[in-house]
Amino acid sequence: MKIVIAGPKGSGKSALGRELVDLTHLPIIETDELIEQLHEERDGHFLTCREIFVEHGEVFFRNLEREVTQQVCDLDWHFVVTGGSIMMEPDNRRALRTNGLIVLVSAEADILWQRATANGIPPWLEGTDGRSQYEQEVVLRDEVIRPFADILVDTSEKSPSELADDVMQKITSEMSIRSHAGNTYGDIIHVTTFGESHGPVIGAVLDGVQPGIRISEADIQLELNRRRPGQSDVVTPRSEKDRVHILSGVFEGKTTGAPIAMVIYNQDQDSSKYEGIKELFRPGHADFTFYKKYGIRDHRGGGRSSGRETAGRVMGGAVARKIMEDRGVTFVGHAIEVAGIKAQTCDHTVIESNVVRCADPVAAKAMEAAIIAAKDDLDSVGGVIQLEIFGVPAGLGDPVFDKLDARLAKALLSLGATKGFEIGKGFELTRMRGSESNDGMSSEGFISNNAGGISGGISTGDPIIIRMAVKPTSSIVKQQKTVDTELRDQTIEVHGRHDPCIVPRIIPVVENMAALVILDAWEIQERLRPEWRA
Ligand SMILES: Cc1cc2nc3c(=O)[nH]c(=O)nc-3n(C[C@H](O)[C@H](O)[C@H](O)COP(=O)(O)O)c2cc1C
Repeated sequence: MKIVIAGPKGSGKSALGRELVDLTHLPIIETDELIEQLHEERDGHFLTCREIFVEHGEVFFRNLEREVTQQVCDLDWHFVVTGGSIMMEPDNRRALRTNGLIVLVSAEADILWQRATANGIPPWLEGTDGRSQYEQEVVLRDEVIRPFADILVDTSEKSPSELADDVMQKITSEMSIRSHAGNTYGDIIHVTTFGESHGPVIGAVLDGVQPGIRISEADIQLELNRRRPGQSDVVTPRSEKDRVHILSGVFEGKTTGAPIAMVIYNQDQDSSKYEGIKELFRPGHADFTFYKKYGIRDHRGGGRSSGRETAGRVMGGAVARKIMEDRGVTFVGHAIEVAGIKAQTCDHTVIESNVVRCADPVAAKAMEAAIIAAKDDLDSVGGVIQLEIFGVPAGLGDPVFDKLDARLAKALLSLGATKGFEIGKGFELTRMRGSESNDGMSSEGFISNNAGGISGGISTGDPIIIRMAVKPTSSIVKQQKTVDTELRDQTIEVHGRHDPCIVPRIIPVVENMAALVILDAWEIQERLRPEWRA
């Protein structure tokens, strides 16, 4: 992707380009300079673009423009500043637009003229009709280029530095549209999450929900409170109330069928801890890969890759969960292993009464101690969580690409820090014989549930059993090796507020995300077999 900043002389395109470079650290290239370089390489002496045009004529100059366009059209993650004459040629325009984003910079006519002539009337505009000649050219270029522009910037009132943030936001949202950014999940029930760790809000829009379903902020708050930071010593101390606000789609306590938009406000974002590591990639986090993909470094807490994004899924998932629970489907997640310590017993009633959310109260104590020990050692630990989904009747899910287990795997592996997905006996099945692994049947149903409640991608009617591997939190204070944005060797200590173990807080996220998957699959099933309708 290249970002082409086009505009007439005096529009402020070069100054805006420089500000954007300061923000993004992407390289910048001016097509005029490339034309001058190309000419100098060939003729052995330097001439300005204007001089090349006058000395060699228009045909020669346009050929240089075409060559330069070819040079820049394949550039990835570059700003390309161009005066606009290049873009008057359809072939050049096509080349620049391919895998490119066009930012058209302009200003009011009087201001453009003042800036263009600030150091005197340019030689090619000398004479009585200089201004009208300039203005005609500006209008013509604007008419031709404007329809192809993705972002319009008027520099009449604000300075380039004031505009840069605004332009950057527009560039980012244009890019996310083009890059199919994967911010939406679901076929019929669509959930889109938005917001960054250190932005003003985190939110979700849930679309496709039937009208007339009873839902309140309290239902959603219940789930958000379980995910909230600052609940105990074994999670991040970031102090967020995460109070949900439903902005649309619910009237007098019931869904209206319109998109349900929900937000929580980020209140305790402290970006200062990230200043010192602005240019450094945090090992284990998504800093390097995001930088490679978008060419932009939002160093403040991981931006979209932050665990905070998952609050949006919980908001949408809480609605889905409510709907599913009304249909008799329940979701129970719990820690079965933390820092190598395994749960030995399973009592669902104790899960919410210990800080690690383990169904074995004795193991829970040992797990808690292991998390605290890792934290004291400026380190972190991971674990395994088990999700059990009860009450899904036999027949939910689709064959081939949309198998229910494949849908669940996709949705749950999209959560940060998850590195493994098992269904039923999972990897243990590889050590069994067929005679042991097969789930035999009797008149009362399946005799065992090694398949984990899904066979051929379709639910069997038995509980769906999933295990997820959750890696140790990547942000640790302990010193690690890394590189900076220039790929120079560095060391890093990641301070700030982090979960020393992600397991306790990811459990409600996994449950609510799974509710979205089951509801979506259920909506598909309802269309195939109307008797599934509640
Ligand atoms: C609920 C939740 C909380 C998280 N908290 C943190 C955290 O405090 N610090 C951190 O470095 N990563 C945290 N993460 C994990 C990062 O989001 C994740 O590791 C990062 O985006 C890299 O993605 P990957 O681990 O899936 O490869 C959290 C994830 C979740 C789901």
